[in-house]
Amino acid sequence: MSASLVTVCYIGATILFILSLGGLSNPETSRRGNYFGMVGMALAVVATVFGPQVTWGGVPWIIIAMTIGGSVGLYAARKVQMTQMPELVALMHSLVGLAACLVGFASYADTSITYTGVEKTIHEVEIYIGILIGAITFSGSLIAFGKLSAKIDGKPLLLPARHWMNLAGLLVVIWVGNIFVNVESGGAGAFALIVMTIIALAFGVHMVMAIGGADMPVVVSMLNSYSGWAAAATGFMLSNDLLIVTGALVGSSGAILSYIMCRAMNRNFISVIAGGFGTGGGTVAAAADGQPAGEVTPISAQETADLLKEAKNVVIVPGYGMAVAQAQHTVYEITKHLREKGVNIRFGIHPVAGRMPGHMNVLLAEAKVPYDIVMEMDEVNDDFPETDVSMVIGANDIVNPAAQEDPNSPIAGMPVLEVWKAKTSIVMKRSMASGYAGVDNPLFYKDNNRMLFGDAKKMLDEVLTALKS
Ligand code: TAP
Repeated sequence: MSASLVTVCYIGATILFILSLGGLSNPETSRRGNYFGMVGMALAVVATVFGPQVTWGGVPWIIIAMTIGGSVGLYAARKVQMTQMPELVALMHSLVGLAACLVGFASYADTSITYTGVEKTIHEVEIYIGILIGAITFSGSLIAFGKLSAKIDGKPLLLPARHWMNLAGLLVVIWVGNIFVNVESGGAGAFALIVMTIIALAFGVHMVMAIGGADMPVVVSMLNSYSGWAAAATGFMLSNDLLIVTGALVGSSGAILSYIMCRAMNRNFISVIAGGFGTGGGTVAAAADGQPAGEVTPISAQETADLLKEAKNVVIVPGYGMAVAQAQHTVYEITKHLREKGVNIRFGIHPVAGRMPGHMNVLLAEAKVPYDIVMEMDEVNDDFPETDVSMVIGANDIVNPAAQEDPNSPIAGMPVLEVWKAKTSIVMKRSMASGYAGVDNPLFYKDNNRMLFGDAKKMLDEVLTALKS
């Protein structure tokens, strides 16, 4: 394939990637967005493999690598549970970081092209920055994977003078970078690269270890952004325009998503990136003395059904527990039944409900809940005073009034769904356990709140049966 045809394919792939991102911004067009992305990626791979940068002798190697990588990816994608998706994404980001490091070292070791003067400096800066971002992404993503899969303790590790350590690391990286660019080549340069890589790996570990609790989703999206910049840096090293553009797309969209999520959780973007600075390291455990702060009023499935039958306006707030219980299909059956009876039923979705961006939207779409009754938090929050029943299904932090009422709460200032303003709120969960952020929830003890204890799927099945009887 000629170089100009490859360029045309790359432009086509770039357009498809942009259309893909546009499609993914709305549940109704997200399927189409995914198809655009798949076609764009297929086009990019074919154009690269058969383009002038790859010799025929290299094609079998690429096919072997793609077969191994593709099989592992297919297996992981089929096996992974929806609730494990953030872990898988974190692991994937680590691979992008690793790839950037390996390409960087390979570029440095490759003597087939001789760079001189300014070109040499530019090439070395590309290598240095590519490996730096790649190594941070690699180790940071591995730690994020460990934390999300509970293999590593989720609590923030706050080393004394940690910001000074980070600053010292940064100064060494700049100093070593200066040496790397100014030495001719060979031993000293390679040594400088290795020193920087070790510092970058340690920084990635340190940065993510210092972040805890409710800040983790921001970290994953931020690492997503880093992986994009690592890919862009790889693109510069390989002189591959498409990789530069795609990396920049991922990098900037990840940064925008991180910013939006920070706003949704009332976390300071810069503080999160700096590894918990100014936030006390994110949220830590728990209710002051670990004891319940009041009396709760339990409710049965039959009583819940009776309340729903009498209601005119109902708002359902799903959370992580609905995903764990896989209760979305029963939620849909209940929704359908109540809508047929003329009840105005809607869903209130918090931006960080569940464990990944859009988690609830994906589950509800899978269960065929109509998009037009799935509202964002801001669209529904003012309507709670006119709501008869707000039904919280396996959610906790996102409906915690302490975020508004208790300035000392670890989640103070985080926007929440004000379900307690409805005439009656019903919280479905299995126990009095806290949610992801590890804080007690005063909602449970409010006079107008009822607790429907049990697995969300089981309890909703019972509610549905009672509704139909
Ligand atoms: P959480 O605050 O984690 O609360 C979920 C609740 O579901 C738990 O209190 C749990 O109580 C209940 N539950 C678990 N399994 C259940 C089951 N089978 N049946 C019924 N209930 C069950 O979830 P949330 O309200 O959705 O808030 C999300 C939290 O996760 C936030 O703190 C957010 O910052 C964080 N986070 C979000 C993301 C993204 S991007 N969305 C990613 C990582 C972390 P029981 O154990 O008593 O049943």
